Amino acid sequence: TSNAMWGGRFADGPDAIMEAINASIGFDQRMAAQDIAGSRAHAAMLEATGILEASDVKAIREGLLTVLSEIETGSFQFSTALEDIHMNVEARLKEIIGEPAGRLHTGRSRNDQVATDFKLWVRDQLDACETGLLALIRALLAQAEAGADWVMPGFTHLQTAQPVTWGHHMMAYVEMFGRDLSRVRDARARMNTSPLGAAALAGTSFPIDRHMTAEALGFDAPAANSLDAVSDRDFALEFLGTASICAMHLSRFAEELVIWSSAQFRFVTLSDRFSTGSSIMPQKKNPDAAELIRAKVGRIFGANTALMMVMKGLPLAYSKDMQEDKEQVFDAADNLMLALAAMQGMVSDMTANRESLAAAAGAGFSTATDLADWLVRVAGLPFRDAHHITGSLVALAEKKGCDLPDLSLEDMQSAHTGITRDVFDVLGVENSVNSRTSYGGTAPDQVRHQIARWKEITG
Ligand code: ARG
Repeated sequence: TSNAMWGGRFADGPDAIMEAINASIGFDQRMAAQDIAGSRAHAAMLEATGILEASDVKAIREGLLTVLSEIETGSFQFSTALEDIHMNVEARLKEIIGEPAGRLHTGRSRNDQVATDFKLWVRDQLDACETGLLALIRALLAQAEAGADWVMPGFTHLQTAQPVTWGHHMMAYVEMFGRDLSRVRDARARMNTSPLGAAALAGTSFPIDRHMTAEALGFDAPAANSLDAVSDRDFALEFLGTASICAMHLSRFAEELVIWSSAQFRFVTLSDRFSTGSSIMPQKKNPDAAELIRAKVGRIFGANTALMMVMKGLPLAYSKDMQEDKEQVFDAADNLMLALAAMQGMVSDMTANRESLAAAAGAGFSTATDLADWLVRVAGLPFRDAHHITGSLVALAEKKGCDLPDLSLEDMQSAHTGITRDVFDVLGVENSVNSRTSYGGTAPDQVRHQIARWKEITG
């Protein structure tokens, strides 16, 4: 049997394999609510412009609500033969209201319809992303505030570098997720034009009002070029790009949590609620949530790459290749939301171990730079010479198996005669972090300043 939508031109129905490769209903049913919202706006516009009779539009708009409730309650029978969500909804509408259903598609194509539905879906995800990021930022701010002056080692190359504060480290992630938030908002603002009414590719000869449908669906304006409107998947790619960068940030933080929660570090204790045990080793408490968050960037970036590859060779306007956009975006969105929520839960629940952080902060000659800076400031040495002298003292301490503050004054003076007892003041980690008062530095006052700024931004 030939197709109900385009059977006029066809004598034969599709091969089963054709149906299998062609059908998208298995996944695009997730856009049912968006599809019905778009159709209801389109129908209202067809009435307002005098293209359809009020009685037909009333039947269409009410019938669509019936279809929506059938889908929401799970009684709707999705059909693969009907290919996608658009034709499934329209076919069911016809069963419910009869002949007027066939008038809904006036001045419209599935090409502008799917672009509209998908944009509405992605827009919802950007909004959910914004909410998730704000929640995570607030959780980080709470951690930063509690430990604004707690000392810990700062690392480069994962080797002890200089002492920093816990608050400073938490606030570094606030900056990252804050940029993600701004990318989400930018993407939303840029994508918010309506493809509806672009029709198949060229627009339509019906006197439609694209401004009306754009406004009804919360778009800022109709997309200005009908060819572009049905061909554009930038909005999906921008979502995936934004999601990829955000997932990368989540992954870096997750990696730190994995390291920090190990017995060798003990910087943090993760809550039982966000840890798992081992089926064989009774002592184990594993940071599985962090590890899974770390892994999510792979599939999200994979989705970004996949859709870039789908789009890069497509001539204008619509090609069926574009149907492959949705599964990538759905999967990336699901996993990003889950990762954001899991990270927020972990951060809210975790305990920073102040003593372990402080003990590690002083280890590894972390205040060697402070000693070199002191030699510059007090003894008037060029920094390069101060660096060399301090290096020799680190070597001496290493040989003696002690830390820098444990060296005697005589040891110090053997490296440079100008060193006085005052030098020991700068070798303490508290002093070190308190001295780093340059804008954006790790000094607790600077950190508190940034916390206050972000609290204002995030409300
Ligand atoms: N299911 C299709 C998609 O996801 C809808 C658009 C189909 N348009 C067409 N001309 N075949 O892209």
